[in-house]
Amino acid sequence: MTYVTPSGESLAFPEGFTWGAATAAYQIEGATDADGRGPSVWDTFSRLPGKVRGGDTGDVACDSYHRYPEDADILASLGLSSYRFSISWPRIFPTGAGQLNQAGLDYYKALLDALAERGISGAATLFHWDLPQALQDQGGWAVRDTALRFADYASAVGAALGDRVERWITLNEPNVVTDLGYLLGIHAPGVADAAAAAASTHHQLLGHGLATAALRAAVPGAPVGITLNMTPVIVTPDANGSAELLERARLVADATHNGRFLDPVLFGCYPEHTPAALMPPDSLIRDGDMALISAPIDFLGMNYYRPQHLRAGDPANRRLREYPPVPGTEDGVVEYYPDHLETTNMDWLIDPDGLYQLLVRLSQDAPGLPLYVTENGRAAEDYVNPDGKVDDLERIKYLHQHLEACARAARDGVNLAGYYVWSLLDNFEWAYGYQKRFGIVYVDFPTGRRIPKASSAFYAAVAQANAIPALPETWPV
Ligand code: FCB
Repeated sequence: MTYVTPSGESLAFPEGFTWGAATAAYQIEGATDADGRGPSVWDTFSRLPGKVRGGDTGDVACDSYHRYPEDADILASLGLSSYRFSISWPRIFPTGAGQLNQAGLDYYKALLDALAERGISGAATLFHWDLPQALQDQGGWAVRDTALRFADYASAVGAALGDRVERWITLNEPNVVTDLGYLLGIHAPGVADAAAAAASTHHQLLGHGLATAALRAAVPGAPVGITLNMTPVIVTPDANGSAELLERARLVADATHNGRFLDPVLFGCYPEHTPAALMPPDSLIRDGDMALISAPIDFLGMNYYRPQHLRAGDPANRRLREYPPVPGTEDGVVEYYPDHLETTNMDWLIDPDGLYQLLVRLSQDAPGLPLYVTENGRAAEDYVNPDGKVDDLERIKYLHQHLEACARAARDGVNLAGYYVWSLLDNFEWAYGYQKRFGIVYVDFPTGRRIPKASSAFYAAVAQANAIPALPETWPV
């Protein structure tokens, strides 16, 4: 297959652009009992009946704890310059605090050395959702103490791995932890309590601020940032004069999805349109917290998967492909899936232009701040064909379109420094278990065998050229 359009036009990325792939500890490592690791909230949650599809757990996952040299070989064979992985807090502090587990640190040293030997740098995320269960037993992110323990952990990891890690990411998608983990209870730790959720927002952000300071003390000069997942909220104007209503709904949805975590980090305050039920109460916000949270970062990581579209409608009497809007929105507005947009098998809308819009918006909100797309990708119904290959054309198309949006944004002046595909490997997709495959490399879970998919060759070609061909007019899928 060739990726070049008849016109042969190509879009280049800035010189020195970082090309990477991302994973997270609980989703790939397995070996949950190895070398003194303590239990995390995901070990506990995945064992609760009915919480994870098929009763899947991360006990074995991709077994990257043992197979990391092979994974490093794959990254090298694709010509990628950076690997975004996460550190498992309960491997380092099995009970969340107190006694440090040297064997846990040694694992990440070995991983980073294996990467370095192959010319790949490491971007380490400190918290990608696997909170030590012992801390959850004391309230988890709903209590302030967890933020202080997070800073201790950041400091220990910084001191031990600071010479090997190129870039630090404090938190991954804190809004998902708050909304799915503490408000709806459909992710670990499975709490469904609005007050705990609002508290977890503030305490995660405080943890980010404290960990940033701790890392800076432990590793002077190291770049530190945070990864937020962002959802562009797009309204479709309506002929019946609902423009104001739609604009108010847009502000509420944007504060809910984006501003609730972005504004404290960039501007030191929670956005005014945040629905009251989601707002951390003033009693939790101590003097100095917002200054810590908004201490300048060296870069911002953004994960992009899908947009949210709003239009006038009746939430109580919804039509096909219409959904209730976020809580706090006045009546008369619905979320909807525009007919012209396809969905993935997660039922997530595919809208590359949403990525372009977000990048432009962030570059206006934080002029000059380097931006990284720290996750982007799609799940698909991948299978090994009789020739032993995985021809994931839908994923090639998805990546091509989204990379085109990135290249356009960079061309239009956005300070985009890198892109990480989600994910290097098929892995444990949280409440969906192993059913949803996001990898550019197929994992045969019973054996652990890795089979690079067609999309990995596409991605490697783009990384090598540091440019993408223009989008074809039609796609083979
Ligand atoms: C993101 C998570 C990541 C993965 C992708 C599909 O929200 O950060 O771990 O599950 O979604």
